[in-house]
Amino acid sequence: MDHRTPVRRRTARAAFPLLALALLAPACSGGVEGRPGAAGVRDPYFPKLGNGGYDVSHYAITLDVDPAGQTLRGTVEITARATQDLSSFNLDLAGLTVDSATVEGRPAAVNRAGNELTLRTEAEVEDRLHRGETFRAVVRYSGSPKTVTDPDESEEGWLPTDDGAVALGEPTGSMAWFPGNHHPSDKAAYDLTVTVPEGLTAVSNGVLAGPPATKKGRTTFRWHTAEPMASYLATLAIGRFETKTSTMPGGVTVFTAVDPEVAKESARTVARVPEIVAWETEHFGPYPFSATGAIVEREDDAGYALETQTRPFFPGPPSAGLLVHEMAHQWFGDSVTPESWRDMWLNEGLATYAEWLWEEEKEDTPAAESFRDAYEDEDNWAFAPAAPPSAARISDDPVYGRGAMVIHKIREAVDDDEEFFALLKGWTRKYRHGNASTADFTAYVEQATGQDLSGLWKTWLYGGSRPAANG
Ligand code: TRP
Ligand code: ZN
Repeated sequence: MDHRTPVRRRTARAAFPLLALALLAPACSGGVEGRPGAAGVRDPYFPKLGNGGYDVSHYAITLDVDPAGQTLRGTVEITARATQDLSSFNLDLAGLTVDSATVEGRPAAVNRAGNELTLRTEAEVEDRLHRGETFRAVVRYSGSPKTVTDPDESEEGWLPTDDGAVALGEPTGSMAWFPGNHHPSDKAAYDLTVTVPEGLTAVSNGVLAGPPATKKGRTTFRWHTAEPMASYLATLAIGRFETKTSTMPGGVTVFTAVDPEVAKESARTVARVPEIVAWETEHFGPYPFSATGAIVEREDDAGYALETQTRPFFPGPPSAGLLVHEMAHQWFGDSVTPESWRDMWLNEGLATYAEWLWEEEKEDTPAAESFRDAYEDEDNWAFAPAAPPSAARISDDPVYGRGAMVIHKIREAVDDDEEFFALLKGWTRKYRHGNASTADFTAYVEQATGQDLSGLWKTWLYGGSRPAANG
């Protein structure tokens, strides 16, 4: 659909002379022509990702999955607030077939072009889609969800496994299994109801909203995520799992799901989830969610671990260091989420620094030594962490290694560990459950420390070449 040409509807008022229309049109009902919501939010690396004109507050997703045939049938009910008067709006969806759609309970016209799904409402519904109004859209869809290949050639989206599938969404894969506003800047609460063949388990984010229910050989799992979640952090793992539930002091639910084939080798590390959450709470501030845990699949099931919200995903038994990394993302990435994919280093730099801190405290490797190793590593100097050269490089070494070096330089500038950890805690408090950009971070650090750190940013965050180690 061509969004440059707003479609003019014929309305009863259009018959009035223009002046009469201007005088008679009430300020806030009718009389306002909506316009199409934008097809993307102009992310520097994924310009078409996300959509303009509305803000999702809740996704209710119902899926019926046939793992043997790798097909699903789904319904998503989106509750959103219009941020402009809308005549139509887009969702992101890759593959699958849209069977029907409604907006405010009325049939909506559906158009698809690439990964953009456009819903155009009826005239009388449009008159209700004013800026500030809350509306509901329902999309029914079906088909074989696809695996998405990233610009860096890693695979995400829907990944079939021997006993089911796993859905991973960084940076754009979630559009392969449900239509939505798939940019990290639009966070929402989720309810996910998944039905699978009896004997398999469907694991997702958050907490179980009730016990699994089996009827006619199929079991339904209902997962609830109350805290805002960026869609790239949503996950669904279907398969045979050994699951364990417990509660941390303070009430956080711990739910772990491990593929039986790797259960034995995973047991020791997975049992450390509560210890690691507690250790990170001491360093980064209150744990931001009501649940935690881990999902461990087999090594070949995915090419990387991911910080899926409340329940990080691991392909194969994780090391303690990797668990520390993915769990640190719950604060840095999941609760405080990047404003755009350019701000990735805020995720990976801080999660990598969490590993350095863990090694410093638990393994006698001072962070200064990790800093020196990272400094010596040529791979870290390919580009500045706050400016990856392309979408294919947003998860390259500089984003991790140099990102962590920036944090270490801040620690040196602060020169007092109590103050440094207070700084980290203040950051997770200020942007808890929100979004933050690199500019938000540098402004916050300067304000909180009272220091002008422009030299540090220029050299370590934005600088292309390797400075002196003590520069
Ligand atoms: N965020 C993951 C981690 O560091 C790694 C990762 C997986 C990733 N897929 C990605 C990073 C896509 C950037 C883009 O634990
Ligand atoms: Zn990471």
